[in-house]
Amino acid sequence: MTQDIQTLAEPAAEPRKVFIKTYGCQMNVYDSSRMADALAAEGYEPTENVDEASLVLLNTCHIREKAADKVYSALGRLREMKKTRTAEGKEFTIGVAGCVAQAEGEEIIRREPGVDIVIGPQTYHRLPAALKQVRTGRRVVDTEYAVEDKFEHLPDPKKVAGRPRMVTAFLTVQEGCDKFCTFCVVPYTRGSEVSRPLAQILREAEKLVANGVKEITLLGQNVNAWHGEDEKGRPMGLGDLLYRLAEVPGIARLRYTTSHPRDMDDRLIEAHRDLRLLMPYLHLPVQAGSDRILKAMNRRHKAADYTALIDRIRTARPDIALSGDFIVGFPGETDADFEATMRLVETIGYAQAFSFKYSTRPGTPGAELTDQVPEEVKTERLARLQELLLKQQHDFARSLVGKTMDILLEKPGRMDGQMIGRSPWLQSVNVDAKTLQIGDIIHVRITDTGPNSLFAEVAQG
Ligand code: 5AD
Ligand code: SF4
Repeated sequence: MTQDIQTLAEPAAEPRKVFIKTYGCQMNVYDSSRMADALAAEGYEPTENVDEASLVLLNTCHIREKAADKVYSALGRLREMKKTRTAEGKEFTIGVAGCVAQAEGEEIIRREPGVDIVIGPQTYHRLPAALKQVRTGRRVVDTEYAVEDKFEHLPDPKKVAGRPRMVTAFLTVQEGCDKFCTFCVVPYTRGSEVSRPLAQILREAEKLVANGVKEITLLGQNVNAWHGEDEKGRPMGLGDLLYRLAEVPGIARLRYTTSHPRDMDDRLIEAHRDLRLLMPYLHLPVQAGSDRILKAMNRRHKAADYTALIDRIRTARPDIALSGDFIVGFPGETDADFEATMRLVETIGYAQAFSFKYSTRPGTPGAELTDQVPEEVKTERLARLQELLLKQQHDFARSLVGKTMDILLEKPGRMDGQMIGRSPWLQSVNVDAKTLQIGDIIHVRITDTGPNSLFAEVAQG
């Protein structure tokens, strides 16, 4: 490996630049930053400007058809760019990483021969080696589930020149999913559940804090399925992990996403009760409100199980706000099934939510079902659901006007002297804060709401 680093770092007179485009979920955002770490060790600087990049990486998402389509249209544009660059005698390498890479492998190069590297989510630590091969004129497709632990082969996350200072960071603690919801490609693209060991997670968290990070969001496709062992070999779950991370000096805020209702155990609910550092915000997708559809989705819980669970969580942490994911138009969904989803949303009351039309994913059991819902019905249901969810989101925001809360300042605002912070409930908060710095946690009073953010003034105490 050391040899590789030398050979790759030497020839470039000017630092090579990499442009990484991230599609999809937060796991991809995390993976992109770790790919940037791996490439920084090879002398690559990140750039936001594709025109100055010699390497373009698309970190892709396969969750819905549209997400995958976007990748191919971006590749079409890159093909043209590559032609021009090559004619000018410039280096221009195109890499496809992430879930489309994993799902489609060599097919990507067949469709888009300009692509040099196809690398899956489990092998991106091998990116430097792949680049070396590309320089010898080869193409690389690496989508196996690596036997080695990629995290052990990645350099530590560090401050990278050209990357803005981060006070919030993602930390992947778990990958993959064994739940096999019948609509979902994740168990196929990301593989089965794997948890990172405690020591590795603590080390990464300490490193992030040393780099100025105040808030860490633990990530996993099924994050609350995380399990590990403490130093004495005793089993741990995500709740235990949160208690341990809360002891790491310098961590001011903790979050985690995405969870499955089946894995919300008592210890995790206790963590919400006990840990002030754990933000009172939980993304807990239910997907649908009809038991018949939940069964067809293989969710392995009923609507009433979900509402009872939310009651327990709210009892433990009364100020907790909920977020969720919903799918409308799953095969066989009737008007009555959809109304059950609407009722569930009314019952729970979400602060935020994501909702989608069902999208058939090849290779999933859902794709075999025949009673597909017509597109116009899906469109109409989605519009109704989104209207309700948006209303709940605005109601929640408005309920905060006049209240005080701590916000973590993340970046300068658009106006001079203004900063943007994050509320405990993940909302952006604009505040006039001339003397304050990014990374400060300040106490504010909410004065007003905007379409996608809150306005606040600094409050005493
Ligand atoms: N069609 C529509 N939405 C989907 N999701 C996952 N698979 C599909 C699909 N085939 C949604 C689920 C999941 C979120 C990340 O994406 O709501 O929770
Ligand atoms: Fe997909 Fe279901 Fe696993 Fe979530 S729990 S990643 S929706 S299979």
